[in-house]
Amino acid sequence: MHMSDIMAPGNAAAFDITHITELLADNVDRLAPLLQVPVKRRVLLGTFVPASGQGTQAANERLWEAARAGDTARITAALADQPIAGAEVDVWHSSPEGRYENQDPGQAEMNLRGRFLTDHKGRFTFRSVKPAGYPVPIDGPVGELMVATSRHNFRPAHLHFMLFKPGFKTLISQIYCPDDPYLASDAQFGVTRALIGDFVRHDAAEGGLGLPAPWYSLDQRFRLEPGEARRPRAPIGAKAAPGAPAVHGLGRADGSS
Ligand SMILES: [Fe+2]
Repeated sequence: MHMSDIMAPGNAAAFDITHITELLADNVDRLAPLLQVPVKRRVLLGTFVPASGQGTQAANERLWEAARAGDTARITAALADQPIAGAEVDVWHSSPEGRYENQDPGQAEMNLRGRFLTDHKGRFTFRSVKPAGYPVPIDGPVGELMVATSRHNFRPAHLHFMLFKPGFKTLISQIYCPDDPYLASDAQFGVTRALIGDFVRHDAAEGGLGLPAPWYSLDQRFRLEPGEARRPRAPIGAKAAPGAPAVHGLGRADGSS
């Protein structure tokens, strides 16, 4: 295995699991020309929604298409002190089993993905299920590198957000669940203290919102910076075929395999 294999164009996961993505996140405009590598402002974009066919959803709409195992959650979020209306907010996350819709033939198209608009106070809300952590794919040199360095390949549970509004830098972020065993050893080095969400558990059902007990709430704040709004190219692949093997895990925090 050569470093050139790891850094080959298109091998985006290599940037993530070698910590390069996050190291460059704040300096990408200055450093990318010097490094001559295809790094863009992506910041752990991960498995992303398709670029087309994504309609806007109503406030408080739910992201799951069928009854799933796992706890439900209500997410409220706002642009802190920025009453910016009409920002497009893409949200996507894994299922309670730790699989994205495109990895899982058992999930409906676009399950656990949505696009919302901020209201006149810069707020948006939706309902979903609480995500689970998952193993990242370890095909090719990425897997070789992780095996060679005795690292596991699990990511802690998180929600993906992308906020797009002309006149502002596109904000791509992940908010992590505070009770995940992989917070301190994320395979992609994405966790910082500020990105750990304040999920609150509720043990009484919220009938009006269709949230059986227990359910979780998260009240999150984001801030947009003035600049150029750019949508990254969506790297999502085709949906997995029925019977496709699950991503292999390299050791779990609880010792199981
Ligand atoms: Fe993810």
